[in-house]
Amino acid sequence: MADDIRFFELNTGAKIPSVGLGTWQSSPGLVGDAVDAAIKAGYRHIDCAQLYANEKEIGSVLKKLFEDGVVKREDLWITSKLWCTDHAPEDVPEALDRTLRDLQLDCVDLYLIHWPARMKKGSVGFKHENLIDPDIPATWRAMESLYDSGKARAIGVSNFSTKKLSDLLDIARVPPAVNQVECHPSWQQAKLRSFCKSKGVHLSGYSPLGSPGTTWIKSEVLKNPILLTVAEKLGKTPAQVGLRWGLQMGHSVLPKSTNEARIKENLDVFGWSIPEDLFPKFSEIEQARLIRGGSYVHDTFGPYRSIEEFWDGEI
Ligand code: A2P
Repeated sequence: MADDIRFFELNTGAKIPSVGLGTWQSSPGLVGDAVDAAIKAGYRHIDCAQLYANEKEIGSVLKKLFEDGVVKREDLWITSKLWCTDHAPEDVPEALDRTLRDLQLDCVDLYLIHWPARMKKGSVGFKHENLIDPDIPATWRAMESLYDSGKARAIGVSNFSTKKLSDLLDIARVPPAVNQVECHPSWQQAKLRSFCKSKGVHLSGYSPLGSPGTTWIKSEVLKNPILLTVAEKLGKTPAQVGLRWGLQMGHSVLPKSTNEARIKENLDVFGWSIPEDLFPKFSEIEQARLIRGGSYVHDTFGPYRSIEEFWDGEI
């Protein structure tokens, strides 16, 4: 019988459900139904962010699900993220309060610094002239205060390279519980994965299907011949095999869908596993980062002059 891998334990002792519904690019008008369908299908983890501009709709749906007794708040894992315009220590608690108001919750289970990049307060969109130098230690101290207050039951980061995570660990009083990064069979994060493991930081994988719906990404993740072969052998879909690979590698996965059938398909990754003789095939897959963070890099504005510099060479 396959190991079910329903949860991973964080360095706080909390158990994060291993499959969460992603909500990036889930349009207002669709995201509510997606969250409703996901929770009714058995998802217990929703990955949100203020940037996604859909937390209000998610909050209304959660409220109704709690009122109707479909799920209890304590059985649900809700993550949200601090946007780049709110890195100033005095803005961090306000940003979380805004998210909590929108989600209609008293606390989130996990609050992440969304990117190791900072933009001018109040700025909108991705104009390079809004990029300013982050001060991650100062922002982290504000995150630690949120953890102390109980409004964020765990804190972490997103899109941090091994070096940036290491620098943060050097100064953290409360070590980050999670680094949420792009991760799928075509971007396996070998270096970061082993560093996270050695430091007890849980790696959580966004775009676990390679974000095939994103217009500016040329995503071939679900078309990879190795994935297709394994899927055919196991009688599973390429998406299910990609997600199951993530669980067996030891990271949580956050597939986004607003389609009820695919929402259910993406949770059907338990009770079976990729057998040991097929698993090593995945290490043969050619590697390429899809989400490169070009918006945070400029030759004049902000601290990062190149994509290589932004990811500290992990590219
Ligand atoms: P949709 O929302 O219409 O289902 P990622 O989580 O890697 O960012 O990928 C999200 C994209 O993958 C969305 O475009 C989503 O479309 C699509 N998607 C989600 N689940 C599946 C699946 N099981 N098979 C194929 N595509 C999927």
